[in-house]
Amino acid sequence: MGRIGIYGGTFNPPHRGHILAVQEFARQLNLDRVLMIPASVPPHKALPAGSPDAETRLRLCRLAAEGLPFVEVSDLELSRSGKSYTAVTVQELHRLYPEDELVLLMGTDMFLTFDQWREPKTIASLASLAMAHREKPDKKEREAIADQKKKLRRKYGARVTVLENDILELSSSTVRQLLAFGAGKTLLPPAVRDEIFRLGLYRTGERFRNLPFDALKAASLSLHKPKRVPHAIGCCETAQALAERWGESVEDAARAGILHDVTKVLDGPEQLILCEEYGILLDDFYRRNDRLLHAVTGAAVAARLFGESEKIADAIRWHTTGKPDMTPFEKIIYLADMIEPNRAFPGVEELRKLAMKDLDRAMLVTLERSVEYVEEGGNLLHPDSVHALEWQREHMEQPCSAETINEVNE
Ligand SMILES: [Fe+2]
Ligand SMILES: [Fe+2]
Repeated sequence: MGRIGIYGGTFNPPHRGHILAVQEFARQLNLDRVLMIPASVPPHKALPAGSPDAETRLRLCRLAAEGLPFVEVSDLELSRSGKSYTAVTVQELHRLYPEDELVLLMGTDMFLTFDQWREPKTIASLASLAMAHREKPDKKEREAIADQKKKLRRKYGARVTVLENDILELSSSTVRQLLAFGAGKTLLPPAVRDEIFRLGLYRTGERFRNLPFDALKAASLSLHKPKRVPHAIGCCETAQALAERWGESVEDAARAGILHDVTKVLDGPEQLILCEEYGILLDDFYRRNDRLLHAVTGAAVAARLFGESEKIADAIRWHTTGKPDMTPFEKIIYLADMIEPNRAFPGVEELRKLAMKDLDRAMLVTLERSVEYVEEGGNLLHPDSVHALEWQREHMEQPCSAETINEVNE
């Protein structure tokens, strides 16, 4: 009699987090083997658009399992028609391996929602349950897990093991996002990574370089969170208007505007992974304040993924903090980001008029306002913003302050 772990999931794509989890399960539970079972149509979630078909995910799983002799990839759920219910799988495995002990392996989320699965009692009668943490649990989560363990034992007679495991906080959606930016390679087993790039899966085969504006706009917006799309379009259109007014390239302004927040979809840890894979060195400030990192990564993505000019990449680079001695084009992108039509803060209307009348004064007022805003919010101010403001103050013909705004209205 052996102990068999059942490790199901969408594996879209299988990544290093899955491999680490499977190794931890096998080691801590003394499993003789683990069946890795990609789901066909998962009952809990629909696969995101553009996901590879089931056969391809199965192949990626086989590549991920190379070098793990105790892992066997099974097409049990893929070869069955209809949805992948765990209860059906466990019953089938029990029939196939009547002598063996089955252990159903899962992460925290699945464990805490076990009651909502189909036929939890059947599952618990045929397999014991083992849970590994997906992220470092806080006190509240530990309590919820302990409660759930008791409840499942009482309700279904479930035998539950909770692992204290090594954690690699990583989700498939993070991997997919990073792949779209040409990064994420370090998060995948090498054979999986090579196959993804060979087939151009998860947007890795998409051509982003030197696109005409309409295609660039579509590509950039498709990488945004939907709620941030109006801001990107607003910034793009405002940048065009300012470029027209101040004799800069309207086309370049549009390109910089539509791309300026392109990596904002990535959270802090993902931003850091992108920096690492792009070879971007960061100072301590950026490491601790990932809110500003999207300007750094956005510039790198604009230049390297989209093949945009240095001028456009630089304007994106400085759109959050500003810096001393900015070019008029950089000022335009900085201001467009602040005053585009979706922005609403006291004085924004006056600032819009000022930007069309006096670019440098608008810069000064905006820098003053954002320095104030950051300080009021209790956030750390980046030294670049301080230097930008000092420089702008020194280089104005007439010193001015927020009152300037009122003059414009008169
Ligand atoms: Fe931004
Ligand atoms: Fe922005």
